[in-house]
Amino acid sequence: MKLEPFEMERMQSTWENRVAHNLSESGVHPMTVEELLGPEERAELMRERLVYVQSNGTEELRAAVAHLHPGARAENVTVANGTAEANFIAAWRLVEPGDEVVLVLPNYMQLWGLVRALGATVVPVRLREETGWGLDAGELGRAVGSRTRLIAVCNPNNPTGAILSDAERKEIVAAAGRHGAWILADEVYRGAERDGQETASLWGAYDRLLVTGGLSKAYGLPGLRVGWVVGPAGMAGELWARKDYITISPGALSDRLARAALRPDLRARILSRTRRILAENYPVLERWVQRRGDSFRLVPPRAGAIAYLGYAWPVNSTELVTRLREEQSVLIVPGDHFGMDGFLRIGFGNEPGELRAGLERIDAVLDRLPAPAA
Ligand SMILES: Cc1ncc(COP(=O)(O)O)c(C=O)c1O
Repeated sequence: MKLEPFEMERMQSTWENRVAHNLSESGVHPMTVEELLGPEERAELMRERLVYVQSNGTEELRAAVAHLHPGARAENVTVANGTAEANFIAAWRLVEPGDEVVLVLPNYMQLWGLVRALGATVVPVRLREETGWGLDAGELGRAVGSRTRLIAVCNPNNPTGAILSDAERKEIVAAAGRHGAWILADEVYRGAERDGQETASLWGAYDRLLVTGGLSKAYGLPGLRVGWVVGPAGMAGELWARKDYITISPGALSDRLARAALRPDLRARILSRTRRILAENYPVLERWVQRRGDSFRLVPPRAGAIAYLGYAWPVNSTELVTRLREEQSVLIVPGDHFGMDGFLRIGFGNEPGELRAGLERIDAVLDRLPAPAA
């Protein structure tokens, strides 16, 4: 298996804890255990025995995840170590050498690298900036064919923050249905909508469907490493079998904390914290973008703590990001990591003061760049 580097993850894991200002994250500022649990539950956590929990996640956690997907039950859910592992086991189970995988781009590039490593061909379908990062139904229809094993979509989308319309979701289901393809819908940003309207899931729209998600983004709990796949019960069982060969079970503490986070009262409190952060911080970012006039283009993100900015300066995105890191100790993500030079992804989920400080440092470099092309 020949594996290409997953550039964004490698850059983030190398630098995110070493720079002064990390604006590369796509979720909201992570919570502490103290913020999450009251004193009684914290004391219970201390008494948690560090066993191997059931390797597809405890029954209670799987039932809580199922509850978020109407009609699903615990046996439809496989808990994984992060959405990343959830995507991994799904692709590993479904994709064979010679298959085609239709990938809606831009996207979190895990599946791009992974399905190629599995010997499949990626057939890209690009969201269009000029239509507010809309999906082109014609392009999708042409991309999906008899060799398509899987259509993979990230909704809400990373990096654009776009959300599929009802019509777009239907197009995807119809295209998959015409050829018996599977759909893998990564919905990890669901619950992090700026307007508080939870994104409609693809769950329930089609039988050959796997929905992945987790607690890292909308819940601000990336360090728990809790994700999941929801799918047909038989398939969930097969994905569980894959876990036996890799990480076995979720961490006992993580499973427990995830059960707490998905309790309706706590879940509502966590998601309202997320909405508050998005509502307070987005205007800071937006004003900063507006001050730069025509040098930036921005389709306002609808979900996720990320803004995907097109820029007019004649400089490569990786070079620009490297300069920002080296000269100002601020980390953002270059469009190159999404196969799209000329873009930058800036995370705005941090503390507002921290966001402002990071943006000021970006200004210090932008002010010295050659003038944008007219
Ligand atoms: C779309 C998407 N899926 C999965 C992941 C990985 O998430 P997790 O931390 O839950 O493994 C990310 C992280 O950025 C992501 O953007």
